[in-house]
Parts: sequence; structure tokens; C-alpha cells
Amino acid sequence: MIDVLVLISGTGSNLRALLDAAAQADFPARIVAVGSDTDAPGFAHAREFGIPTFVVSPPAFDSRESWGDELRSLVALWNPDLVVCAGFMRILPANFVRAFAPHIINVHPALLPLFPGAHAVRDALAAGVHETGSTVHVVDEGVDTGPIIDQVRVAVDARDTEESLHEKIKQIERPLLVDTVVSIAHGHIDLKELVAQ
Ligand code: GAR
Repeated sequence: MIDVLVLISGTGSNLRALLDAAAQADFPARIVAVGSDTDAPGFAHAREFGIPTFVVSPPAFDSRESWGDELRSLVALWNPDLVVCAGFMRILPANFVRAFAPHIINVHPALLPLFPGAHAVRDALAAGVHETGSTVHVVDEGVDTGPIIDQVRVAVDARDTEESLHEKIKQIERPLLVDTVVSIAHGHIDLKELVAQ
């Protein structure tokens, strides 16, 4: 059994998938806390499951580093085996990454290394690609640059809008994320080995 801390910024549908999965008796991970950079709507899912939440808001700090220090301190209180960024829309500062690496993963709505950054779905549509998808990767100090753990593909329809395409991606990225956490918990994915390659 591993302890997982989830970071979110938005609606938290990926968090919800993890919470639903963790409610099953045989799930090999438990969600110990949920953090955010803002009072995220997704906190409602955590509250429903009685999971503690916390906010570390960047504007309250005079530098990215001091924000990262506070985030690191709060996350460390829970002593997680794994930090999952599930729609966390801030770049994690280097001091935070160094504290928990390689035990930080992120889910990103594109087939990395294509379309990194905050507008992956919009960028994929603008590029006219016929398929995109979702990637789970190890977080390093870059922007969506860490080693890729797994990916799933989604066809882009000519009628897709950013919203419809993102919804299709979300449908496939939830099981991708849940399955990845299971594989890490069972030791089938070794994050240390992955970053050493
Ligand atoms: C997800 O699609 C996730 O891949 C994306 O934000 C969405 C969060 O949805 N993450 C990024 O874009 C990170 N660069 P959710 O709040 O419903 O889980």
C-alpha cells in the first residue's frame, strides 16, 4: 500500500477517478491529502471522501522559491510515497521537485513530447493533428519534459472543439492515471529506474 498526495487546480475529475478507485478494497494506494494552488472546485471530491485539503497560493509569496518551500513543507507533512499532479496548472519549482523526485508524476492532455504547456488541447487542434491523447510522465524540472511512463491515443474528429476533444481525452486519461498508480504501487513501474535510463 502506498500513500498518494494529489495536486489539482481545477475540476478534479482525475482526482475523482483516483478517489473512486481507492475506495475499492483491493486498491493498492490510499489518497492521504489533496493540495492546490487555489481554492479548486475539485476539492469537493476530496471533502466527499473525508480527505484533507490545503491551498498554497503563489500570489501570497514573494518568489516561486518561497512558494515551493511552503508547498514542499506541507506535502512533506503527509510523507507521501507518490505525488500525483492531476490537472495541477503550475510549474513545480525546482526546490519542490528535488525534494520528491522521482516520485512525482503528472498527467498531460497530449502525446508528449508534442504539445507541452498549459494549452495542449488547443495547440493540438491548431496544429491540425489527426490524433492526440494523454501522457503520464515523471515530473522533472522542465515543463512536461520528464520520462514518459505511458500514453493513450485519441482520434481527433473534424468537428471537435477544444471542449469536446478535451472531454474525449479526459475519458481515456482517468483510467490511464489510475492504472499507472496501481502499477507503481505494485512495483511494476519503477520510477527510479525510469529516470536513470
Ligand atoms: C486534465 O485533462 C489534465 O491532463 C490537464 O488538466 C486536466 C484536468 O482535469 N493537465 C494539464 O493540462 C497539465 N498541463 P481535471 O481537473 O478534471 O482532472
